[in-house]
Amino acid sequence: MRFQSVKGTRDFYPDQMRLRNWITDAWRRVSVRNGFEEYDAPIFEYLDLLTIKSGQEIAEQLFSFSDRGGRHLAIRPEITPSLARMVNARIHSLPRPIKWFSVPRLCRAENPQRGRLREFFQWNIDILGSDDVLADAECIFVAADFLREIGLTPGDVCVRIGSRPLTVAVLTAAGVPPQAADAALAALDKRPRLPEEEFHKLAAEAGLTGEQIARVCEFQDCGDLERLEEAVGGLKGAPAHAAALRDLWGHLAAMGVVDYCCLDMRIVRGLAYYTGIVYEIFDRDQSLRAIAGGGRYDDLLGVLGGPKIGATGFGMGDVVLGILLEEKGKVPQAVRSQPLDFFVIDGQEGAFQQVQRVVGALRARGLTADFSYKRQPIGKQLREANRRGARAAVIVREDRVAVKDMATGDQNDLGLEDFLGRADRVLADLRSPTG
Ligand code: HAM
Repeated sequence: MRFQSVKGTRDFYPDQMRLRNWITDAWRRVSVRNGFEEYDAPIFEYLDLLTIKSGQEIAEQLFSFSDRGGRHLAIRPEITPSLARMVNARIHSLPRPIKWFSVPRLCRAENPQRGRLREFFQWNIDILGSDDVLADAECIFVAADFLREIGLTPGDVCVRIGSRPLTVAVLTAAGVPPQAADAALAALDKRPRLPEEEFHKLAAEAGLTGEQIARVCEFQDCGDLERLEEAVGGLKGAPAHAAALRDLWGHLAAMGVVDYCCLDMRIVRGLAYYTGIVYEIFDRDQSLRAIAGGGRYDDLLGVLGGPKIGATGFGMGDVVLGILLEEKGKVPQAVRSQPLDFFVIDGQEGAFQQVQRVVGALRARGLTADFSYKRQPIGKQLREANRRGARAAVIVREDRVAVKDMATGDQNDLGLEDFLGRADRVLADLRSPTG
């Protein structure tokens, strides 16, 4: 009987694993240079923790189960509730602001489609313990810093920024009662992905009248800050939230990432716990699903039994990101194959023990070195060196070696001990593999 992987999951053969590691290494590197510390949490949690404040959509996508003690559990579809739980447990001893990151493996029982799978990795950047819009700006900066790091420019991607409280203020002014706001936001979250008619149907099901739909859509479509400020100027509580957006823009400009950002009031986010500025990152043409999404969630820790402290952050998945990088040809050649510094070859009969010694010495110096298991002619071993992408072949003959640059074919004759004494330098002197 032969098995396949479950739909919506991925096998990571070495090719795919290299790409995954390249992405996750960059996530970690960028997190650390921005002052974030890594944490992790269990892969399953109590069901209630994951449903209490995340909303209907995520509740429907849970892989849930009961353990033998009858506890209701679920595999994590996101890590934000676990983060809130962990921070609440140590709230009095953690110095604030808390700047933490994580790269969890997550599962959602979604219908698999382009960019959405049932198991994926998601980079999380969060700042807890600050109400300042500077924290929101810093999270967006970190996202842009990463995009730049992996070669995605403002021409490739955009952080589309909206505001939940402004949207709620417009809904309220249009006569939508507070208890209907969550359903209205859930419908609005789907607007960019639906044909107009279907969106209208969904919004009507959420309780909005035709007039209310028209009013909120008009607000969502005003594309710049001035028009937005005009549109919400007279609405209760709105000017403060509009001012927060203006402050955010000031910070993003000062931090040099404003080119990556645009205002888009159609962004309201699907998860129910967001309370402030929200954003999603898309490819410029918006032909793919969101690369990342996040925002401020000031009530979540309180709802989970902790104090009310400000919190903001985002999650970025590896799936859409991978598709976009492939489409734009931004995956570096070096990620396509495993780098190998030296392939060591026995250049005459009886030299194999020397080969083993050389390989051992190179590896002990932290260089990557490999050799053929078969004793075969030099030409065949050179072909293997080439197939393995070695920077150089080292042909060993008694107490001498010939170091052959695999890119240029140039060959250098050295004493064996001399080579072992400065193999790093010999490698550095070779032309780079990409030329
Ligand atoms: P989210 O919008 O549900 O937010 O997910 C964020 C990102 O994770 C998405 O933009 C996408 O890249 C990726 N993602 C989500 N679902 C899938 C899927 N089924 N397959 C592949 N990728 C997926 C959250 O999860 C929030 N907890 C993020 C957050 C952190 N907010 C504040 N802090």
